[in-house]
Amino acid sequence: MDIEREYKRSLERILTGLDLSGMSKREQAVFIDRLNEQFPRLFALLVEIYGQRYDFFYYLQQLVQTLANGFAKRSNVLKQKDNARLAAPHWYQGENMLGMACYVDLFAGDLKGLQQRIPYLVETGITYLHLMPLYDSPKGDSDGGYAVSDYRKVNDTLGSNKDLEELSKALAEAGISLVLDFVFNHTSDEHPWALAAKAGEQKYQEFYYMFDDKHVPDEYEKHLREIFPQVRRGNFSWDSDSNKWVWTTFNNFQWDLNYTNPAVFNAITDEMLYLANLGCEALRLDALAFIWKEMGTNCENQAKAHSLIQAFNSCLQIAAPAVVFKSEAIVHPDEVLKYIDKQECQLSYNPLLMALIWNTLATRDTHLLTESMQKSFEISPDCAWVNYVRCHDDIGWTFDDAVAGQQGVNGYDHRRFLNQFYTGRFEGSFATGVAFGENPSNGDCRVCGSLASLAGLEQGIEQNNATLIEHAVARILMVHSIILSIGGIPLIYSGDELALLNDYSYEQDDSKKHDERWVQRIPVTDADIQASKKKDTPQNRVATGLKTLICLRKQYSVFGQASTRIITPHQNAVFAYQRTAKDGTSLLAICNFSEHKQRVSSITLGLGNGDVWQDLLSSVRVSPAPQELELAPYQVMWLLNSQPV
Ligand code: GLC
Ligand code: GLC
Repeated sequence: MDIEREYKRSLERILTGLDLSGMSKREQAVFIDRLNEQFPRLFALLVEIYGQRYDFFYYLQQLVQTLANGFAKRSNVLKQKDNARLAAPHWYQGENMLGMACYVDLFAGDLKGLQQRIPYLVETGITYLHLMPLYDSPKGDSDGGYAVSDYRKVNDTLGSNKDLEELSKALAEAGISLVLDFVFNHTSDEHPWALAAKAGEQKYQEFYYMFDDKHVPDEYEKHLREIFPQVRRGNFSWDSDSNKWVWTTFNNFQWDLNYTNPAVFNAITDEMLYLANLGCEALRLDALAFIWKEMGTNCENQAKAHSLIQAFNSCLQIAAPAVVFKSEAIVHPDEVLKYIDKQECQLSYNPLLMALIWNTLATRDTHLLTESMQKSFEISPDCAWVNYVRCHDDIGWTFDDAVAGQQGVNGYDHRRFLNQFYTGRFEGSFATGVAFGENPSNGDCRVCGSLASLAGLEQGIEQNNATLIEHAVARILMVHSIILSIGGIPLIYSGDELALLNDYSYEQDDSKKHDERWVQRIPVTDADIQASKKKDTPQNRVATGLKTLICLRKQYSVFGQASTRIITPHQNAVFAYQRTAKDGTSLLAICNFSEHKQRVSSITLGLGNGDVWQDLLSSVRVSPAPQELELAPYQVMWLLNSQPV
């Protein structure tokens, strides 16, 4: 079809039928402008996905009306924010940015409690707060809230919708961007759509992947991996209400939505705009790699998954352009990169950096980290990484086997080693972690544990061993120094700033004991915060050390918009990178990943040019550059280049 002619005709027809009654004349003009601008792209994407359907135009028209309604309901304050963000789209690249992720209940009891914790967040320097899913979800196991029964209703254990509205405003006033989950790959089996499907309503059965028998599922199954093999084998569950097999990539109670159905796209867009209108500034696209299924493939990272996300992005550009997407693609590094684009996801978790930081702590060898970052760190200057060390999920060893292979490292064996190391089964390991998702057929697993426990603090405290404790504290600070300086939004997992240790109480809870990820989902109490203020405890050293790093980050623009070059240090345990800002200021970050001193050549680091370098962390000046720099165990240097005096 001649796309250009078609889209113009469609747009004209849609505009004549469009109800804009909820908007002022001025707002109508803004909406129509944005629609005109986005429509060619949106239309092309939807044609690609749904163009074969006889009812294509019906759904397109309905979608545009949904966008208009969403825009009409958007508050004036948020519309102003839309304009501000459109004028300064790179707000997330600033040196002031600092993220935190937390569970409302674990961090503060409920939404009201969270509002009272805002001063703590401000004091910590947080400007971006990801609240783990807080929507209505099944009682008992709800996959930590990732099984959503109602996107528009706050889980009543956390408070009311009104509490959320107030919190959202209070966060905005405190300069903190609210980040919410967009759980759009699946709903819970208690969502009204799922309930209607269970009751036999065909319209809603078509919202999911439902099959009368196992024939088609078995065909798909040949190419799929299993995400939670410890609780359920395969990717399909039997639903005895509808007498059908249902596609459930994650748990039985998480039903995958069927995006071959445009009604699903439209319905979810409506939910998305509701979330946008709550005032969040980023949506975390949960499990986005799984949203498109294609027979004969592993049904991850399919081309149409990208088209769908771009189409959602385009919808936001029309109705709520202040909101950006964050990709949660925990997949092969090459696939992670494909989601990052200003027209798809402006932000993305950086699982490769996360996994390789842990890898390097175990091996004390930075080659894989250095080469992988040289290959995969650079992304579009319009986008930003969200760099993290721990989160609520397990650690999967998502490095590229080809890059590992070039260094003579066998990916399969190496993952086994890492699992052994971090679950404490490897002799001499400093880590106290727990195996997760152990696959009964192949022994494969992933790793859980709090940052502090994985970094050795639990062992150090248990053995009352000052050296182990010292190393653990240094590791914790070093890994944070990396996410704070390498480029992107650093995201702290709440509790890590206080060095909280594993919490094993989940083992006693029937709704949690089969899911080891709860070991790192730890309550953050007032007592913990107070304890971190008690001088010279490990918790205090972590908390104060981190504060210093954060203050420095916020002080120098080179931590914000700048480019990153990963250096080859020719020294096994050293990781180094250089950040260069537009004004020419440059920062050289050097980390020693081992408990032994390291020497690294100044020439390799590019220090030999007569400039004056000052270590922001020790105030030592490196001038004129010595031939070699010496780093103490786990030492980090942040060398800032200032002009010769
Ligand atoms: C994401 C979440 C994880 C959840 C899964 C299913 O990966 O981070 O916690 O289990 O999606 O929603
Ligand atoms: C898988 C998924 C990832 C999710 C995790 C939950 O690794 O790829 O999205 O976070 O499972 O454990």
